[in-house]
Amino acid sequence: MRVLQVSSEMVPWVKTGGLADVAGALPAALARCGVELRALLPGYPVILQALRSTERIGRARLPWGDEVDVLGAEAHGSSARLYLIDAAWLYARAGSPYEDAQGHAFADNHRRFAALGWVARELACGLDPTWQPQVVHAHDWHAGLAPAYLAWSTAPHVRRPSVFTIHNLAYQGLFRAVHQAELGIPAHAWHLEGLEFHGQISYMKAGIVHADRLSTVSAGYAREIQTPEQGFGLDGLLRHHGHKLSGIRNGIDSGIWNPAHDDHLPSRYNPGQLTARATNHEALGLELGLAAHHEAPRCAIISRLHPHKGLGLVLEAAAPMLHQGAQLAILGRGEASIEQAFLELEQRHPDQVRVRLGFDEALAHRLLAGCDMLLMPSQFEPCGLTQMYAMRYGCLPLVHSVGGLADTVHPWDPHNPAATGCSGFAFATFHIGAFLEAWAQALACWAQPVQWAALQRTGMSLAFDWDEPARQYTRIYQQLGHAHG
Ligand code: ADP
Ligand code: GLC
Repeated sequence: MRVLQVSSEMVPWVKTGGLADVAGALPAALARCGVELRALLPGYPVILQALRSTERIGRARLPWGDEVDVLGAEAHGSSARLYLIDAAWLYARAGSPYEDAQGHAFADNHRRFAALGWVARELACGLDPTWQPQVVHAHDWHAGLAPAYLAWSTAPHVRRPSVFTIHNLAYQGLFRAVHQAELGIPAHAWHLEGLEFHGQISYMKAGIVHADRLSTVSAGYAREIQTPEQGFGLDGLLRHHGHKLSGIRNGIDSGIWNPAHDDHLPSRYNPGQLTARATNHEALGLELGLAAHHEAPRCAIISRLHPHKGLGLVLEAAAPMLHQGAQLAILGRGEASIEQAFLELEQRHPDQVRVRLGFDEALAHRLLAGCDMLLMPSQFEPCGLTQMYAMRYGCLPLVHSVGGLADTVHPWDPHNPAATGCSGFAFATFHIGAFLEAWAQALACWAQPVQWAALQRTGMSLAFDWDEPARQYTRIYQQLGHAHG
């Protein structure tokens, strides 16, 4: 089975969040199921520079007339062969893949990501004479036009089926209707059941409507996005297309996230060696200037600093938590107001709070090994990878029970403290009182070291691997492959 993966991010090259982890892990996981996956990415300079050599595969003419070279490359550090769109005027920019250094979305994002969808279609139609995918798998709004361009293709013999995976419905890729013609959007697609969303072009909707199959990244989130509370205005559409929607939980890439083999850690450990965590705890304390003490848990936050991550609850709860002896180590970047609020907290409590603004992969690993808990009170969370990494590292998550967080964290119950299978703490209502209640439970557990260690061992042995999710994707590809001959 040959599959073309289309995404805007992929570990180890370009990462702003979990999408990159997933795109980077799928090639090897799917290879074990007999799927040959190749990945199409925008030709960001960081990727082009990291590749030893590239070859020119062909040239594509974009709907608005620009021509781009499509490059092929063997990728060191990934098992996937890559295709890249060589268009410096679209992708060679300072800032993130989506925004300039000041946090403003690039004004031509509609073109930058239409090019991604268009080249996916060209590859499906035979741009590379030596390799043609049987299925195109597009991820998130950035790749949402790929299923649409495929569906609008006028050449029936090259009609290739597509899968569209929603990683986060909150980001929809909305653009002004005036771009319709330059993007090659046919008139028949411009209506409520096409990609029009309240007078705008929606790349997310394009993917949802035109893909043959849909998936999202946990069973819980698959249910939630079909409700008005979590549907971001698309719940009706998603219910309508519910028959083609599956929830497939993300996995953990054990080659990268494994405390027994993690080169970023001062001291490596497995579930039978929990005492080795003390060395990591101490080293992290020295690195961050936090005392090594054990009155209350040392809590990590590793997160994009966006309102939906629910960190307002932590800011509200910080005073009582710190009073009880907790420490907070925050690694993140994002909205200026949230960054500022954490910096002010650090200024008020320099002995107990440490803030690192920025993106630091190595520090993320050390935090998981050197903190006792991870706080992840997201308002909504499609899957969430960080809580799974935390459990794997013996760092107990405290989460809001939604989406993938509810699906992956089985909370400890103080009324049944010896129950097996628990690996963290959770609260059901998104409210400060409920958060503090979960925190009180964590403190109660902390006071019982034998219980705490049992939760750590349970979390570390949970099999959040990619085997089962990869099998589920493979079944979808096979069904589509058969249906389309
Ligand atoms: P999301 O994709 O919504 O950001 P996930 O939990 O799925 O949430 O994935 C987040 C990923 O990004 C994890 O790999 C996490 O370790 C990483 N991450 C987030 N913020 C940072 C940061 N500031 N520095 C390093 N890694 C980060
Ligand atoms: C999104 C979601 C996150 C998920 C990740 C990978 O960024 O916010 O919950 O884990 O995609 O699927």
